Amino acid sequence: MPQYAAPRGTLDVLPEDQPYWRYVIERGHYIAQLYGFEQISVPMFESTGLFIRGVGEGTDIVDKEMYSFQDKGGEEITLRPEFTASIVRAYIQHGMHTLPQPVKLYAIGPIFRYERPQAGRYRQHTQFNVEAFGEQDAALDAEIMEVARHLYADLGFGGLGFQVNSTGCPICRPQYVSLLAEHYGRHVDEICDDCKRRLQRNSLRVLDCKSEGCQPVIAQAPHITDYLCDECATHFQRLQRYLRGLGRSFTIQHRLVRGLDYYTKTVFEVWATDIGAQAAVCGGGRYDGLIELLGGSPTPGIGFGSGVERIILAMRSQGVAVPALPRPCVLIAPLGDEPKVAAVRLLADLREAGLSSEIAFGDRSLRSQLREADKQAVQYALILGEDELRASQVIVRDMGGGGQQSVPMSALAAWLKERVSA
Ligand code: HAM
Repeated sequence: MPQYAAPRGTLDVLPEDQPYWRYVIERGHYIAQLYGFEQISVPMFESTGLFIRGVGEGTDIVDKEMYSFQDKGGEEITLRPEFTASIVRAYIQHGMHTLPQPVKLYAIGPIFRYERPQAGRYRQHTQFNVEAFGEQDAALDAEIMEVARHLYADLGFGGLGFQVNSTGCPICRPQYVSLLAEHYGRHVDEICDDCKRRLQRNSLRVLDCKSEGCQPVIAQAPHITDYLCDECATHFQRLQRYLRGLGRSFTIQHRLVRGLDYYTKTVFEVWATDIGAQAAVCGGGRYDGLIELLGGSPTPGIGFGSGVERIILAMRSQGVAVPALPRPCVLIAPLGDEPKVAAVRLLADLREAGLSSEIAFGDRSLRSQLREADKQAVQYALILGEDELRASQVIVRDMGGGGQQSVPMSALAAWLKERVSA
């Protein structure tokens, strides 16, 4: 066993995994920009109070999962356990309410949660996250869901289920919550201890409980969509009309409540069928009260976060291939002292010309250097001995076809550029 290993719940993304990472992130940028989102980068840590206020006391994230500490100046700091609160903070801090609305922002980066690690659930994961501020229209809710759908379709994986629900608003939710509490009150002996606690602090979350005993109680629970106020009901109807108009399939999942407190109206998740228990590749929704809660003027907002690791798990389990990353195409094999000085110079020139090139290090025989070229799977080996140096030429050996020819040093970069496949 090595003396040090990566911390539990974290991943090393090794070179062989990087093509997936590069591709997903590159397509994420492309799709976000296609839908008119602009990139924002926010700090990896913020004042702890921002997340307590934003995500909500009583949520698993705030109660159990935050990496919080006091810094050397005595500030209470937390590694971001999500993007939304940070991006809302930035929207308020930089007066973005004065910009034309909606303001559409996206971010990609690491997120930290002290969770119990398992396949697809990590203590550091990476989110592709979009947020749109300043627009109530349910057509925007549909657009946000389209960003996720388009990204997954573009990446080439399927088998996804879109689940939607409405969590109402501060006007209609309290009535539903008391009905839910009454229902649970009639089944106190059947429900788990966690749900008893949730009823006190975070009542909607009882609908999300996985314990077996609670399932019959959940199945008989009232549906929030039957108790929405007119505004929330109309909003939810309109969203469904837009989604149907787009020809998108989705299910209304009455149990869908999400684990963060700020949601109002629309909530949604996207589930992949074949990546195990941690199957939500995406979760999001509307948060029309959050900006005001964090000190801004009343402004609606909506967004989602999608875990890059889970996207890649889904792609791999479905055998989705991604483009390989470019590799060196040329290896220079010098023979002798003077040729090596020239080879080091040639190597620099080729790289300046944009040709990814290598040299065989150590003073080795031609055979050994050509073996190296084979191992590195370069297209061409450039052989440079005393005779070639005198004639200002190199011997270019085609490592695939096996033929070779002399090319003047001055024309070499152009010659290679015409032939190497990028
Ligand atoms: P969330 O559902 O907590 O929502 O996370 C969003 C997505 O991040 C999940 O669907 C999943 O793909 C990924 N994810 C979450 N936790 C982990 C983990 N421990 N390991 C691997 N992947 C994970 C939010 O964070 C909200 N801020 C999303 C949002 C944005 N809502 C509105 N705007």
